[in-house]
Amino acid sequence: MTESENPILVEVQDLKTYFFLHEGTVKALDGVSFNIYKGRSLGVIGESGCGKSVTAQSMMRIVPAPPGRVVNGKIDMYLWERGGGSAEVVDVVQLQANGKKMRSIRGKQIGMIFQEPMTSLSPLHTIGNQIAENILIHEQDITKQQARERTIDMLARVGIPQPQRLVDAYPHQLSGGMRQRAMIAMALVCGPNLLIADEPTTALDVTIEAQILELLKTLQSDLGMALMYISHDLAVVGEMSDEIMVMYLGQVMEHASTDEIFDNALHPYTEALWRSVPTIEGKLERLVPISGTLPSPFETQPGCRFFSRCVRRIPGVCNAAPPPLKEVAPGHEVRCFLYQ
Ligand SMILES: Nc1ncnc2c1ncn2[C@@H]1O[C@H](COP(=O)(O)OP(=O)(O)O)[C@@H](O)[C@H]1O
Ligand SMILES: [Mg+2]
Repeated sequence: MTESENPILVEVQDLKTYFFLHEGTVKALDGVSFNIYKGRSLGVIGESGCGKSVTAQSMMRIVPAPPGRVVNGKIDMYLWERGGGSAEVVDVVQLQANGKKMRSIRGKQIGMIFQEPMTSLSPLHTIGNQIAENILIHEQDITKQQARERTIDMLARVGIPQPQRLVDAYPHQLSGGMRQRAMIAMALVCGPNLLIADEPTTALDVTIEAQILELLKTLQSDLGMALMYISHDLAVVGEMSDEIMVMYLGQVMEHASTDEIFDNALHPYTEALWRSVPTIEGKLERLVPISGTLPSPFETQPGCRFFSRCVRRIPGVCNAAPPPLKEVAPGHEVRCFLYQ
C-alpha cells in the first residue's frame, strides 16, 4: 500500500461488491484494497466497466441494492475531530445504508460529484435552496438566512458569476459548466474531508473541462481536503493526482505515485493504457487501442484477468493461477507474474 506522511482518512481492505443478476453474479469488485490520506489525491483509472464507480458507490453506501451487495471486506472511515487530535473509526460496510450515521458521513465527511449534475440536483428547486438545505440537514444552530449567505459565498467560490442573483436560478437556467459548478458547491458546502469525483468532466468540452479541473485543484488545496478522482483518461488523472490506482475487472492491477506510473509503469495493462493515450503533438496515428475487448463480467478465469488481452502473457503461468498484488518497490504495487 502506498504510504503517506499524512494521517489516514479511509482504509479499504479486501472489498468485494457483487451484483446478483438472473444471468449470473457480477464480481464488480473482487478484493480491492487501498488507503486515502488527509489532503492527498488518489486517481483511479481503468476502462469502462472495471469497477471505478462501484468503488465510489461502496464507500458512499449507494450501491443499488438489490441486486448489489458488499459481500466482504471493510471500509474504515476516520472521522477526525476539528483540529485533528483524535479520530473515531467507523466501518461503513457495517452501517445501515440510510441510517443516521451514514447520512451524516455522506455530505458532511464525504462529498461526491458525478458526470451528470442532475444526479445530485433536482430540477424542481432553485440551486440555492438545494445547497442551503444540505447545510441545514447537517448542521444545528444555523438559521435559514445564515445558510443562504453561506450558499452565496460557496457559489462565488466555485466561480458562479453574480451569485446573489443566480442563487435563485433553477438548474435548467444554467449552462452545463455552471450546473457542474453548482454541483461542486453542493458537495463542498459542508466542508467534507474527502471529495469523490466520478468522471465529472467527461461530458464537457475541453475548455470547460480544463476550467473545472483547475477549480477542483484550487478548492482541494484551499480547503485541505482529500480527493479521489475517477476517470478513464490517464492524462486527466495524472493532472489531478498524487498517486494512481489502475483497475481492471474489479481488481487493482497497479498502484503507485503518479510519477512512477508516468515514468515507470510496470503492468502490461498500464502500458496498454499509455499506448492508447494521444500524445501532446496530437499524433493520432500513434494511438494503439488495447487489443481484444473486455471479457464478459460473468466470466471467471483461473489466472490473471488480463490474460486474454496481454501482449506479455506467459501461457501456463498467467492462466494457471491468479497473480497476487505485490509491492515491488516502496509504494509501488503490481499484480503481475512478470514481477513476482
Ligand atoms: N446497478 C448495477 N447492476 C448490475 N451490474 C452493475 C451495476 N452497476 C455496475 N454493474 C457492473 O459492475 C461492473 C463495474 O461497473 P462500474 O463500477 O460502473 O464500472 P466503471 O469502471 O465504468 O465505473 C460492470 O461489469 C457493471 O456492469
Ligand atoms: Mg463509472
